[in-house]
Parts: sequence; structure tokens; C-alpha cells
Amino acid sequence: MKDRVRRIFRLLKSPVDAIVVANSTEPHVDMTFAYATGVESGLFEGSVAVLTPNGGTTIITGALEAESARSAPDAEVIEIDSMDSLRKSLGKSLRGRKSVGLNYRELTHATYLFLKKTLPDHRFSDVSPTIATARTVKDKEEIARLREAAHITSKVAREIPGMLRSGMTELELASEVEYHMGRLGSAGPSFKTIVAFGPHGAEPHFEPTRTKLKKGMTMVIDYGAIYQRYCSDCTRSFAFGHPPKQARAIHEVVEAAQQAAFEVIRPGVSGADVHKAAEQVINASKWKGRFIHGLGHSIGLAVHDGGVGLSPRSKEKLEVGMCLTVEPGIYVPGFGGVRIEDDIVVTKDGYEMLTDAPRGYLEVKG
Ligand code: GLY
Ligand code: MN
Ligand code: MN
Repeated sequence: MKDRVRRIFRLLKSPVDAIVVANSTEPHVDMTFAYATGVESGLFEGSVAVLTPNGGTTIITGALEAESARSAPDAEVIEIDSMDSLRKSLGKSLRGRKSVGLNYRELTHATYLFLKKTLPDHRFSDVSPTIATARTVKDKEEIARLREAAHITSKVAREIPGMLRSGMTELELASEVEYHMGRLGSAGPSFKTIVAFGPHGAEPHFEPTRTKLKKGMTMVIDYGAIYQRYCSDCTRSFAFGHPPKQARAIHEVVEAAQQAAFEVIRPGVSGADVHKAAEQVINASKWKGRFIHGLGHSIGLAVHDGGVGLSPRSKEKLEVGMCLTVEPGIYVPGFGGVRIEDDIVVTKDGYEMLTDAPRGYLEVKG
């Protein structure tokens, strides 16, 4: 973990004497805490990590996760039992380190005010862009975990056709998908599973309801696994029985768009150019303008991991070790949608596919 901490400091444009990663309560827990300390288990609500330029890490935490903290590699642990001992430990850990970087993007306002009051003589600055950049390029250990998370989702993708039953609700299918991931070793869904039957598929982030599956419906199923804290993200779109003819045609355009994106992914290409490659295919079809989101995002300790993405605004260049989703879609209000989403890691020669479930059009027998 020392390497990760050192790298964050190396990437800073304006140096600081220390970085403080301060958690609030769920869901306001900064995954940078786990990234920098290497803690394998535990929430670490209300805990703080103090990082220093030589890779030093001090974890200040309570009794709930003290054991986990002690098993973190390279970290000094200070166990606290009150807000007063937290304040004292922070002051001690930051003695002589006046300029302190904070991860503004993840810090709650209340915690920021607490830090200001506790450390009145320190100067705070925002190091969140640097933290996002550091987390975007994964090391070997992170890629291995993402590979396994993706492997779980691919296995489940193969099982989904067998789960479909006439009359089942979107909510039932979502829980079956999550159950299957759990059986394969996922620690939980990496986000709330999306199951959208028929016209619901036109909304990319649809939340499942009690709507029942009927013959002739299309569906979009978007879900992800967590393996050792790392998140995969996968979407498959199926038809149940024989849907209207355009379902197959839409699916084929989305497949072609995804393929066009894969063909340009390599180090040095901008995220915007990868997005454009897919968008052009869709815009050359009958469904021009129906691709309504960015092509992909960074994955890692969070499913939307910040940092570099694949969208018209992504000017940053791809680098070896970036892990991204590639998820073109076509959304037709009143009809439904098709999205195909896979996870990749950028390699020296292009990319490695992390998800490997079949992507072709499939009409599941109703
Ligand atoms: N699961 C939301 C997304 O694909 O980004
Ligand atoms: Mn995604
Ligand atoms: Mn997704």
C-alpha cells in the first residue's frame, strides 16, 4: 500500500505535508480509505487515515474495526474510544504537517467543519482530482480482483436466460440475479440491480417494479458483483418470446457500436474518441440520437469510480491499467431499450476483456 500512497503524493501538482481521508457514516464512506490502507474488511465509519509523502499510513479507528486495521499492511493503528481521543490523535499525527490535503469529493460538509475546528492552525486543500487520477490506473492486485468480479457477472449472464419465467416480476428477477452472484462468491451487488421489462428499458437507470414478464417483451438487465471490494458492471438485453421485429435490429446496431469502440481502445486514445466511435455507428442508423449517455466509466472500488471515462467530455488519454465499462445503448420511449455493457482493462496492445458472456441477440423461449 505504501506504493499507492507514494503515488498519490507524486501526482500532486501542489505538494502537501499530509493527506487526511476522513469517513462519515454509510453511505459517506470514502473508498480511498480502503485503497490507501489496504483494509480488507470493515466499514470504518467515523475513522480517519493520515497519509504522508513517504508512504506512511496511520489509521485512527474505534473498537469495531481495530482488528481489521491491525491486519492492514504497513499501517500504524491508533485505537480511539471517544471524539476527544479522535481529536487528540489527529493533532498528534499531524504535528509539524501544516498543509493537509482532503478528498473534497467524498468528504461530508459536517466532517470538513469538524476537521477545521479540530485543526485550526492547519491549511486544507482539495486533492480529490489527484486521488481520482491515482485510483483510475489499477495495479496488478486490483486488476485481479476486478477480473474475478467480472467473471462472476459473466457466469450469471449465462444463467439469466434460465431464470426467466412468464409472470415473474422485475423485482423477482433482480433478486435472483443477486442471489446467483452471491452463490458465486460476490460480497453483494455493486449497485442496485436494474431489471427493466418492455418499455421500461427505455430508461437507462430504471428501478425494478412489480411489473410482470410477458411473452413478446424485451428486457434490459444491468447488474454487478463485488469481489474483495472491487466492482464489476455488466448489462445484457434479452427478448422473451418473439418481440416486435425492431428488437433484433436495435440489438445488432448496439453490438456493432460496441465493436467499433473496442476497435479503437488502446493507450493514448482519448475517452471522447472511443465514445465517438460507438456513437457514430448508432447515429448512422435509424436510431440516430437515441444513445443518450456516455459510453463508459471507470470501475474499481466503486462502480462509478470517478477519474477517466468514455464520454464526449473525456479529453484524458487512456493508459495501461485503466479499467472501464463499454456500454452503448439505444433507448426508444414507448418501446424499450437495448444496452450491452462489458468491462475491459486497457493493455499495452489494446485491451483485455474482463467480462466474457455472449453478447449476441437472444430470444429466450417463453
Ligand atoms: N449500472 C449503471 C451503469 O451501467 O453505469
Ligand atoms: Mn456502467
Ligand atoms: Mn451497468
